[in-house]
Amino acid sequence: MTGYSDVLIGLQIGDEGKGRIIDSIAQGYDVIGRYNGGPNAGHTVEANGKKLVLHGIPSGVFHQNSILYVGSGCVINIEKLIAELEDVRNAGIDLTGRLYISDRTTVIQPHHIALDEIVGKNLGTTANGIGPAYADRALRSNGTVLKNLHLGDLIAMPEEARRTIEQNYEEFCKNYNFEGDIRPAAERIINLAQQLQKYVCTDRLFLTKLVSAGKNILFEGAQSAALDVNHGTVPYVTSSHTGAGAAYTGGDLAPTYHRKTVGVAKAIMSRVGHGPFVSEFGGKRSEDYCMEENGKKHTRELEKHYDLNALIKSSDLFDIGIALRILGNEYGATTGRPRRIGMLDFVQLKEMCQYNGVNEMHLTKLDMLADFTRTALPGIPIVSQYILDGASIDFTPAAQANHRRVQSSIDYLPLMLSTRDVRSFEDLPPEAKEFIKCLEKFLDIPVRGIGVGPEREQFILKS
Ligand code: IMP
Repeated sequence: MTGYSDVLIGLQIGDEGKGRIIDSIAQGYDVIGRYNGGPNAGHTVEANGKKLVLHGIPSGVFHQNSILYVGSGCVINIEKLIAELEDVRNAGIDLTGRLYISDRTTVIQPHHIALDEIVGKNLGTTANGIGPAYADRALRSNGTVLKNLHLGDLIAMPEEARRTIEQNYEEFCKNYNFEGDIRPAAERIINLAQQLQKYVCTDRLFLTKLVSAGKNILFEGAQSAALDVNHGTVPYVTSSHTGAGAAYTGGDLAPTYHRKTVGVAKAIMSRVGHGPFVSEFGGKRSEDYCMEENGKKHTRELEKHYDLNALIKSSDLFDIGIALRILGNEYGATTGRPRRIGMLDFVQLKEMCQYNGVNEMHLTKLDMLADFTRTALPGIPIVSQYILDGASIDFTPAAQANHRRVQSSIDYLPLMLSTRDVRSFEDLPPEAKEFIKCLEKFLDIPVRGIGVGPEREQFILKS
């Protein structure tokens, strides 16, 4: 019997907790695959007291029987991937025979990272060279030198690949008035790539054959719906297609096998980097504060000395946002930057569910909503309506200027007690059940899983 494939995507602006959801549902699948992005992603998974932050390797490492596949839609940083494999090994997990990386993945070269440091600053990118790598993939060659190097190239023609890396860096130095000897780094990358040889997958029909043999696949999206290179809040987006449809180009499988799309949303929203964020606590002030010194100023270290009680009781939403960040430990897993915090935006969520054809969703960090009992607010604030130029709209405007002018209607849902110790839907406080029902009704989508805390067992799967 032929198997099927499901796609799991983040529905908001990143960091919804996709990794832990994948970890909790992974046992139902034979393969966990990545189809977009690269080391800009940071998926945290925990098991048996071990914690791993994965950037390039698919979540699901703790499920010993699952195959992990990195599709051709991804970009990879060879040095980081080797280091990550070492972390995984140190956690007692051997990925030999489990990890397969398409030989068509694009290699992030040193000039991509150097360029991202310069051109990505105003966007607040993760400075991992993602944008320049995808740009060079589209450019292919500058006429004489290859711009896009596949992982397979580094293995099949190491000498030429090394020279290409050097030439691309030299061109970058000329264009940007830079100096530097790239030779040792190029040499290192080529040598390390040989260590990846045992994971390289040269068969584009790899997943097709598995699914034909009855295996089931879960594609995990990196970044999120609102960070899509075209449908996100352009230009403050990543450089790949993040939506559900992209799984079937970057994941190397025909859409024929698609069964369902699963969405993940976080009960209190967050965003790292610049860009419009309608429901942000403190609005533009919060964006400027969080992004000061490109996100390196207001760190976890600094904010932990703030007076949490004063902040959470404040009548200023900006202060409440800081308090919720500290309470929710909302700092970037990849960059450590403070995440901008906002209330759950039902309008944004509905648009992304509909656009991506989401069949069911998981809501993470429900436990965070109990923190509103400590505020002076009359209930749990949510965005229920967008208004632009006096009219109600049910979409996110594409033009940034219009997106930033959107005004929102805020509704208050009843305050709820802590849900951290609850393990079944039936045992949730009535207000929490009401909250979930209200969300399901608004979205017309069932909520299947609910995260109530950071631990693996703090998760409720609804029947
Ligand atoms: P890039 O993907 O590094 O080019 O960054 C582009 C934008 O996407 C920036 O605003 C990043 O903060 C954001 N971004 C990239 N990856 C993630 C992620 O995994 N979670 C949240 N935001 C991300």
